[in-house]
Amino acid sequence: MKKHFEESLINGIKRMNNASDQHKKDELTSSRVISEDLEIDELILTHSYSQSAAQKILGVNHIVFKQIVDKAIDSGIIEKPLKLAHSYKYTIAHIHALQDYLNIKSWKDKFKGLEVIVVNNLKGGTGKTTFCVSLCVELALQFSYRPRILCIDLDPQGSIAQYTNLDMNDASILTGVDLMLGDNESDSVYQQYKSAGYSHEELVKGSVVSTHIPNLKILPSHPNDGRYIDDLLKMKLQAIRNNPETKDCVFNDLLQTKIIDHIKDDFDIVIIDTTPQKNVLVATAMDAATGLLVPCTPHALDWDATQKHLNSFISLIKDETPSTGDKLKWWKVAATNFEDEFGRDTAIYDKMREALSTDLLSNPLARTHAFEVAAQNKITVKDILPSHKLAPKKQLMKAKDSLTAVGRDIMHLMLTHADKADESEVK
Ligand SMILES: Nc1ncnc2c1ncn2[C@@H]1O[C@H](COP(=O)(O)OP(=O)(O)O)[C@@H](O)[C@H]1O
Ligand SMILES: [Mg+2]
Repeated sequence: MKKHFEESLINGIKRMNNASDQHKKDELTSSRVISEDLEIDELILTHSYSQSAAQKILGVNHIVFKQIVDKAIDSGIIEKPLKLAHSYKYTIAHIHALQDYLNIKSWKDKFKGLEVIVVNNLKGGTGKTTFCVSLCVELALQFSYRPRILCIDLDPQGSIAQYTNLDMNDASILTGVDLMLGDNESDSVYQQYKSAGYSHEELVKGSVVSTHIPNLKILPSHPNDGRYIDDLLKMKLQAIRNNPETKDCVFNDLLQTKIIDHIKDDFDIVIIDTTPQKNVLVATAMDAATGLLVPCTPHALDWDATQKHLNSFISLIKDETPSTGDKLKWWKVAATNFEDEFGRDTAIYDKMREALSTDLLSNPLARTHAFEVAAQNKITVKDILPSHKLAPKKQLMKAKDSLTAVGRDIMHLMLTHADKADESEVK
């Protein structure tokens, strides 16, 4: 439970003040230091690239690469690369800075508007959170777009906070629900920040947490967020009492108005993990959604539940969201946890393909032990190298390959529907 607020408020305020410069700082000071000799976060090392890999990403030969790197170091654009066993390693931050230095266009230069993908299924334990965090990392690592991604956890289970260094017992951390309820709650941590002089916008930006990937941030949740449903009901009843004409979905735009509108210039893609219930938290996510992904394990019970869910979901979007689904550009069911080796899941997967046709994402996410090991270690399969010996190499490759294929499908969907930036605005 959230306690010791007075002590942690000071830390919280420091965090808010540092928010604008957070990711650079976190990159070097993250507490998950494993390679102690180097005092560099193991996860940052995992995602560092050899000179030849970095050259490939930038699309230049080794002579040009060396010239660019020397110039970028001289002009303070990048710090020196890491030196490991006689070879240089370039972190994601190095590569992004070099891409910017070379004026290589990123997502924000090519597209306008924010993509908001909601990951939802009524069935719990179907692989939603695994799908969601894996997708966030996969998309963040697309160097050709380097999209700025925000993962919002709207499931009060709070699983995604475990993928950060956050101690969620720290009362000074604000969750998405804390920000959405905001002024409607008295004596809250949010209110104390407000009294300390912070604006709502500063609190939203300051509550977004950095990860080991500079262009991926997280807005966590906490079991306390379960109060949202009751609190919202009270707010609705009050509003209806004041004005009997008030529509039932009156507050279901709070994610859009209290969070997304305040960070829309800082991110390109928002990916939201939701609770496996049909409730106001899901409605508030769907109000903001431009894309919907419904992960489903190809098992009879899961597929059955998913079909029922899809039928009733349409009425949730139409009747319970102020936007009535106007922003939604695409939706797909995504097969996840798919076991192909023994043909165990093939029959149901075929049924899903037949029933859904193009509404099924082209590629499934494979079921492999590597995803389980990753989840147990609160990392993604993308954060594991064969040398870590956490999962057999074959399983790891299978996991990564299927994630790459799923990432490509979803990228393609977004690219098909995204609004191109005006040429005149493109740098
Ligand atoms: N593709 C996968 N391969 C193997 N295990 C998986 C896969 N996806 C999820 N799991 C495992 O299934 C369990 C439930 O996954 P989770 O993502 O937490 O589901 P949900 O969020 O729908 O409750 C976890 O133990 C997770 O490790
Ligand atoms: Mg989950």
